[in-house]
Amino acid sequence: MWLRCLKVKLLVDRLFEQRSLPKADFIQLLENRDEETSNYLFSLASAERDRVFGKEIFIRGLLEFTNYCKNDCLYCGIRRSNRLAERYRLSAPEIMEACQEGYDLGFRTFVLQGGEDPHYSAGYIAEIVREIKASFPEAALTLSLGEHPLASYALWHKSGADRYLLRHETRNASHYAFLHPKEMSLNNRINCLNNLKDIGYQVGCGFMVGSPGQTLDHLAEDLLFIKELKPHMVGIGPFIPHKDTPFGTHPAGSVELTLFLLGILRLMEPSLLLPATTALGTLDGFGREKGVLAGANVIMPILTPAKDRKKYLLYDNKICIGDAASSCRFCVQRRMEEIGYNINVSRGDHPEYRI
Ligand code: SAM
Ligand code: FES
Repeated sequence: MWLRCLKVKLLVDRLFEQRSLPKADFIQLLENRDEETSNYLFSLASAERDRVFGKEIFIRGLLEFTNYCKNDCLYCGIRRSNRLAERYRLSAPEIMEACQEGYDLGFRTFVLQGGEDPHYSAGYIAEIVREIKASFPEAALTLSLGEHPLASYALWHKSGADRYLLRHETRNASHYAFLHPKEMSLNNRINCLNNLKDIGYQVGCGFMVGSPGQTLDHLAEDLLFIKELKPHMVGIGPFIPHKDTPFGTHPAGSVELTLFLLGILRLMEPSLLLPATTALGTLDGFGREKGVLAGANVIMPILTPAKDRKKYLLYDNKICIGDAASSCRFCVQRRMEEIGYNINVSRGDHPEYRI
């Protein structure tokens, strides 16, 4: 027993020194983790995060501006086949109004996230980007709009978008095919991520923990892919079933494993922007606090207008859907202060991008 624990601690030490591990060692580490090694990992990861960012947690205002989606990802509550989803989309003035509210609450990063909704042409998105950047020049803008042609990504970047979040979902092609309809491909997703990097965005990839069919082998492949891509942000959160999807009865992912992976990611890349996600807070009342204590340094309170919040349901029992933007903002601040951290209201760029 103690020998196994010692071996796992040695793997954590090696990860700390080398910032990565061979695939077989990542699998060993994940397979044999226990409470003691998790705590050891979290203490190293927290120290690394504090060394780079201090006791500061960046906040981003998350604006979920459309839940129409032309895609049909099998795990997602806003997939096009979910006829029970009540659809909404925000107009450009509504988006501006929500950003203004966010700005007044101190947010200096807005994240525009939505399904892949053809209602918003590339030109229309570019106009919205320009308007946000003209009205709030000192704020950063992150887009999370899914897969698009290189030309659209380039246009949005030229219009002022700073960052782009596109979770790769899984680096394993057969696992990807298990989670997605046949018209979607892992190759396209990876090409999009490479294009976004080449254009000059601060780029985020990521995956769900405990998605249907996921193995430790897949997770090791995800970690090695992240090492190779060198993204500026990584979004991971537990899979949570949505009752009106094909995976509606599949068990949710593990909070404990998600925290362990956050710790690993922080040791792999100390300056990573690493959110403690809403999904983590949904499965555990203190999930976001635990995420920060495991190594995360970003929280994304929701800015979506009250009338539509309840409709952006990727999974069941999502938190914060009954709250106003201001209550989430101050709730997150209080929660962070209670664990010894402060909310940082600057743009919160990746260290490589700081002016
Ligand atoms: N359409 C954009 C895209 O594809 O990147 C952004 C929206 S998409 C709904 C955002 C992320 O939600 C996905 O990348 C996925 O990882 C996550 N997600 C979807 N369904 C989920 C579920 N049931 N549980 C947890 N996370 C989920
Ligand atoms: Fe929304 Fe706490 S963050 S209520």
